[in-house]
Amino acid sequence: MKGVILAAGKGSRLYPVTHHIPKPLLPIANRMTLEYAFEQLVGMGIHEICVVVGENEQVMKDRLGNGSEFGVDLTFVRQTDPHGLAHAVGFTREFVHRDKFVLYLGDALYDRPLKPYAEQFLSSGCENLNLVKEVEDPRRFGVANVVDGRIVKLVEKPANPESPYAMAGLYFFGPAIWDVLVDLRPSARGEYEITDAIQLLIDGGADIRPGIFEGVWFDTGTLESFLETSRFLTEEGVLMGQGAEILAPVGRHVVVGADAMVEA
Ligand code: DAU
Repeated sequence: MKGVILAAGKGSRLYPVTHHIPKPLLPIANRMTLEYAFEQLVGMGIHEICVVVGENEQVMKDRLGNGSEFGVDLTFVRQTDPHGLAHAVGFTREFVHRDKFVLYLGDALYDRPLKPYAEQFLSSGCENLNLVKEVEDPRRFGVANVVDGRIVKLVEKPANPESPYAMAGLYFFGPAIWDVLVDLRPSARGEYEITDAIQLLIDGGADIRPGIFEGVWFDTGTLESFLETSRFLTEEGVLMGQGAEILAPVGRHVVVGADAMVEA
């Protein structure tokens, strides 16, 4: 199995800081955001990873290199203009070739290893397995209707969700995805949605399953969630991936006043 990480977004919800550093390279609790993704994929036994980049291409390549610093083997592809998750995936076809692959959203972060879901996908033989999490307000996510251990319907950011299960940023695919991408049309918000692509798989009768996640999941896309994730990781000292590294040796946080001066 191969890995695909989407990191081509503009990070506009974190402006102005992302004018200078692309969001995937920002540190959260002292580690670059993407290091958490690499660690999760390595934990699944995946080392061949394609990072989808955008305007940030050069600075991403300069910082990440061939990935050896992180124990992975990196390939980069450039998404010409960010037109949605399915659009981004389309650029990775040559890299994935005929393999199965896991799609990881570059700004997602989890408090525990995701390896069990890779095992569930591979042992079930299903066409696609998606991490889902029960949330209080699913309206800002893709929402999955789950019946008898199958996903039977998917809707992107519904105004009136029919289910509490949010698509939680991790997707495992077999090769059938490539057949439906060509038929995909833009959604109401003008994006090629991965949820719509999976709905086409469902419509074609494919076996689509949920991987129900009961841990803590962060989408670090907004300033508020970015800071909350940092606080969670430093305060909780979360154990991540196979390395089981303690992230908060200090165990307390520091408040810097608005007019404080920090000197080296
Ligand atoms: O966070 C989970 C949600 O992620 C799911 O529940 C939704 O079904 C899914 O569509 C997605 O929704 P968002 O609107 O939150 O996606 P966002 O635009 O934040 O993009 C997610 C990541 O993908 C982010 O790291 C940037 C990258 N990306 C995004 C787009 C639109 C790309 O690489 N290319 C793109 O064209």
